[in-house]
Amino acid sequence: MADAQPFDQRDGVIWFDGAFVPWADAKVHVLTHALHYASAVFEGERAYGGRIFKLDEHSRRLVESGKLLGFDVPYSVAEINRACEETLARQGFQDAYVRPIAWRGSEMMGVSAQGNRIHLAIAIWQWPSYFDPAQRLKGIRVDLAEWRRPDPKTAPSKAKATGLYMICTLSKHAAERKGYADALMLDWRGQVAECTGANIFFVKDGALHTPTPDCFLDGITRRTVIDLARRRGVEVIERAIQPEELASFEQCFICGTAAEVTPVSEIADWRFTVGDLTKTLMEDYQAEVQPKASVAAA
Ligand SMILES: Cc1ncc(COP(=O)(O)O)c(C=O)c1O
Repeated sequence: MADAQPFDQRDGVIWFDGAFVPWADAKVHVLTHALHYASAVFEGERAYGGRIFKLDEHSRRLVESGKLLGFDVPYSVAEINRACEETLARQGFQDAYVRPIAWRGSEMMGVSAQGNRIHLAIAIWQWPSYFDPAQRLKGIRVDLAEWRRPDPKTAPSKAKATGLYMICTLSKHAAERKGYADALMLDWRGQVAECTGANIFFVKDGALHTPTPDCFLDGITRRTVIDLARRRGVEVIERAIQPEELASFEQCFICGTAAEVTPVSEIADWRFTVGDLTKTLMEDYQAEVQPKASVAAA
């Protein structure tokens, strides 16, 4: 469903190549290399209580993603951090979603674009819950996608690159058409990989199982959840997970900056309960992201 207010017609300012511009004026030309050839990388971050959670890690990943696509973001990590913080202050939000994006511009329009200027923009808006809040508490329904995450020899799978999201949008749209909230993608080998904007975890006999991120994003939220679970003494097993194993798992949740920790009640024909460990990690994550709070460390 489309948002009531389109994203190109909102209020406020967007940080664009080093200056603040009115929201509606933050435009690119149709002959922009990134639009034609997906030469762009981006981040998704959340601010809680006026502070952007793990900002430095996100800015580092942005710069690293650019390098994986063969370009240098023309700002240092410290400069990107400062620009994100200034944009958040200008927008005046405490809790918000932060979207930096870097892309190749318009100087050359062939596949080769060695000389194109690299641009950077940062937009911040309020995005309370990625999934329907009522559905989220009961556990979301997830379909099994037809599309798979590619072999790392086929695409730079460690980059948060726009091109890699073509598969995610195809999978999510197909799932939504069938009434599901999201889709689980297998990888090129047929192993369980990730959802369209989040990593996945399973619970079995008190331990957490999650796929090894060898061909998809090793999410910052994923690493935070592993850390929170270990702080509680929960065993975390990163390994190859086959789809047939889904029948043996008791609980399932997905996690990502936008999705936070979201329980899953079903994946295609497999069923899961929203159990205690999932609820505990949801709470621990909410505590962890708040400035100066850390329940799990207590
Ligand atoms: C495809 C995909 N996988 C995983 C994640 C989780 O990453 P993070 O926790 O760093 O937001 C995201 C969200 O950015 C994503 O889009």
